Amino acid sequence: MHAISQAKEDPGAASLRIRRARAEDVPQVSALDAEVTGLAKPEYWRDIFERYGDRRLDERFFLIAEIVGDDHREPILGFIVGEVRVWEFGSQPCGWVFAFSVEPDARLQGVGKSLFDAISAEFKHAGVQRMRTMVARNNHLHMTFFRGEGMMAGPYIQLEKDID
Ligand SMILES: CC(C)(COP(=O)(O)OP(=O)(O)OC[C@H]1O[C@@H](n2cnc3c(N)ncnc32)[C@H](O)[C@@H]1OP(=O)(O)O)[C@@H](O)C(=O)NCCC(=O)NCCS
Repeated sequence: MHAISQAKEDPGAASLRIRRARAEDVPQVSALDAEVTGLAKPEYWRDIFERYGDRRLDERFFLIAEIVGDDHREPILGFIVGEVRVWEFGSQPCGWVFAFSVEPDARLQGVGKSLFDAISAEFKHAGVQRMRTMVARNNHLHMTFFRGEGMMAGPYIQLEKDID
């Protein structure tokens, strides 16, 4: 993406910033998610912002990546959402990542890693020593990314069944 290249060549002109989501980001997050998943769910994203972007912010993290220039603001490039969960399934407190996407035109330029590093730092600051996520078996991008960041199979197995 032009703005990222510009930021790399001339860090004074524009830079990648990771910040907390604001209410006005929700339509863009929803649009990016719809673009990536093929499914629009604006109510879901409004609800996610209310729960993860607006309260208990010491353990809930809804982070946005954006390019910030001198005189203008670009559209958001990606987001990551997670929270500290305690004692579920007998687990010690840990940080869960449950939503994560980067704008297709902005991929492979470090935006995903910047978001992942930022939420890892937030989890560490919140006092947990481990983070978790779930990856759809057919989401090779997520799998490749998370493995590249050092995440490995954990001690739990997901079980499910169709309800008659
Ligand atoms: C996974 C995702 C977040 C990565 O974002 P990104 O900005 O492209 O990631 P980065 O540029 O920071 O890449 C970091 C590392 O991930 C790995 N990686 C990312 N994309 C890759 C690809 N297409 N092929 C191979 N490795 C890849 C590489 O190891 C890369 O490190 P490198 O650049 O040193 O080789 C992005 O591909 C994405 O949004 N995918 C779709 C996610 C999705 O399906 N969301 C909906 C459900 S929540």
